[in-house]
Amino acid sequence: MKAVVVTEPGDPEVLQLVERPDPRPAAGQAVVRMQAATVNPIDLAARTGWHPPIFEIQDPPYVPGWDLAGEVVAVGAGVDALAPGDPVVALIPWHAAGGRYGAYADLVLVEADWLVRRPDGLDPVAAATVPLNGLTAHQCLAMLDVPAGGELLVTGASGGVGGFAVQLARAAGLRVTAVTGAGDEAWVRGLGADVVLGPDDLGAAGPFAHVLDAVPVGEPVRAAVAPGGAIVETGGSPALPAGSGLTQRMVLVAVDRGALSELLDGLAAGILRTRVAETVPLAEAAEAHRRSGTRGRRGKTVLVG
Ligand SMILES: NC(=O)c1ccc[n+]([C@@H]2O[C@H](COP(=O)([O-])OP(=O)(O)OC[C@H]3O[C@@H](n4cnc5c(N)ncnc54)[C@H](OP(=O)(O)O)[C@@H]3O)[C@@H](O)[C@H]2O)c1
Repeated sequence: MKAVVVTEPGDPEVLQLVERPDPRPAAGQAVVRMQAATVNPIDLAARTGWHPPIFEIQDPPYVPGWDLAGEVVAVGAGVDALAPGDPVVALIPWHAAGGRYGAYADLVLVEADWLVRRPDGLDPVAAATVPLNGLTAHQCLAMLDVPAGGELLVTGASGGVGGFAVQLARAAGLRVTAVTGAGDEAWVRGLGADVVLGPDDLGAAGPFAHVLDAVPVGEPVRAAVAPGGAIVETGGSPALPAGSGLTQRMVLVAVDRGALSELLDGLAAGILRTRVAETVPLAEAAEAHRRSGTRGRRGKTVLVG
């Protein structure tokens, strides 16, 4: 099999395509032929050797990649619900797996209970944009628990997490104000946001009792939070000053097969939208990282097998 490996922390060139023995599934595992694996900001961070302190990642070499869409090629003992040929999607909980499993390979070893079936007809490239960012959006909204009819501010609404959050919040009947990257308002309006602001307009927004800081922008969003309000962030921002009266929490995405299946069904039915900037062959992962590290990408870069 071929895998893209971080040999040592560094620039995109450290991503090397290597030959490895084909993985064999142990009991409870499956091997998936990768068709699509999304490049996400956390992969770029992992490549540089930066991991959030709560991650327990082994030293390099490791294979990046949280988002996987493909077809089952083999299953281990006790895996009765899946068979070779099944189209599947997974969130690989890369942090929990210590970097031992990753989607940047043509054959990917996974725990079978990370896998869900891909709905008939759903393109694997589009499907691969869902697990990490769709589940994070879903879990952020659950943490915020905005009452029906309530208002929500979402930053980074033009990105993966923010874009799904806007759509899920609107589907839940919330009123959404969305802050986008520069010049990307039309896409976010198309996702259903009630009010769309550019990145320089954040200062005029609010106040909101509930904020999802999906970039995260950190301190600049705080002026938009109402007294007693809550912020959920996708990354570690500076702690709130003592006595701020606000609640600050950070999401850490978790496997949720039920929610992932619902998100994929929504995408297959055209209820949810996603955006792919480009597909890049697995062997060109270094170039994919180089391009993904720039602003204004207008969608995900997806590695294809
Ligand atoms: N904690 C977790 O469990 C978890 C899970 C998933 C993701 N994350 C993190 O969540 C963050 C977002 O991930 P993603 O995949 O959604 O990234 P993404 O697809 O790159 O989206 C980020 C979006 O934010 C926009 N943006 C940048 N600066 C902005 C600003 N000041 N105001 C408003 N929008 C701004 C970008 O637009 P331009 O590029 O056009 O500027 C882009 O559209 C990353 O830091 C990622 O690591 C955390």
